[in-house]
Amino acid sequence: MTGRFDLTRRLPDGYFADALHTDVLKGLTGRPKTLPPKWFYDAHGSELFEEITRLPEYYPTRAEHAILSERCDEIAAATGARTLVELGSGSSRKTRLLLDSLLRHGTLERYAALDVSADALREAGEALCRDYPGLQVTGCVTDLETDLGMPGEAPGPRLVAFLGGTLGNLDGEARPAFYSALRKELRPGDALLMGADLVKDPAVLVPAYDDAQGVTAAFNKNVLSVLNRRLGAAFDLDAFEHRSVWNAEEERIEMRLRSRRAQTVALPALEMTAEFEEGEEVLTEIAVKFRRPALTAELAREGLEVSHWWTDAEERFALLLAVPA
Ligand code: SAH
Ligand code: AVI
Repeated sequence: MTGRFDLTRRLPDGYFADALHTDVLKGLTGRPKTLPPKWFYDAHGSELFEEITRLPEYYPTRAEHAILSERCDEIAAATGARTLVELGSGSSRKTRLLLDSLLRHGTLERYAALDVSADALREAGEALCRDYPGLQVTGCVTDLETDLGMPGEAPGPRLVAFLGGTLGNLDGEARPAFYSALRKELRPGDALLMGADLVKDPAVLVPAYDDAQGVTAAFNKNVLSVLNRRLGAAFDLDAFEHRSVWNAEEERIEMRLRSRRAQTVALPALEMTAEFEEGEEVLTEIAVKFRRPALTAELAREGLEVSHWWTDAEERFALLLAVPA
């Protein structure tokens, strides 16, 4: 049987419009200016991210893919998952390794993909329905910082995957809140599989977020296109410069957009203008890089016990399995 892809929305109508208004109002009137990274991912932003994953400088996707290829059977055996839930699933490309292993293992019945991007969910979900007849594939549009969107009715044990290093896009306040929300959803026998990019030489990190072809620059500036389309804003993308900066104290990459000149930008939907000084920067994304002891400890504080920790051969990226303590 080839199932039809089922896409649902968990958050009330108007949630995303309200959240965008609030984030932009707060982010562009505060100092330093900020915009949350979730607004990168319209259809074009999701495509640009996929392009990033194929860039020579952007090692995380290849490193995580290598770990998953080597460990997916071990993961299937350790979890025996009947449901695979994936947070921030995007194209679900690496997920296929897990689906294949769990199907070979004979336990998997359902794959539930959760993402802020309806376009990414639809494209990935329809392809998975074609390629995995017999597997129940569902998608849910949600904002994992507000509502994880876990399918409570899905058969357990459930394996919750959070791949790609998206954890690093959450700051030190958001991560414990995220773990705590997740921990409340996990039942005995469930497990969390999470990818985390590791601290390394900034000479490797900075170009990973500032590639020679300018794809990451286009991805970063896409947030301005989203504001232009959704808020009727008048951002001139050429008036901003993409920056990738290593913050050594916080051990994170910061993606910023620097205003090339003093400018005033109209945001009609918010009945406001945003003022930029020449050289003023908007922080559009953080990408925290992790060390094993600190990450294990912050998970333990929220009741998640790391049972397995795997890295790629060059120790650039880690994949961990954690269970409710
Ligand atoms: N897991 C995939 C995609 C990573 S890109 C991979 O490893 O390649 C990050 C993904 O998280 C995107 O698909 C984006 O749409 C999603 N995302 C970002 N912020 C989100 C949020 N607040 N809630 C839900 N999904 C989010
Ligand atoms: C989705 N996330 C893990 C990516 C990262 O590496 O932080 C997003 C990204 N931003 C620029 N390049 C990739």
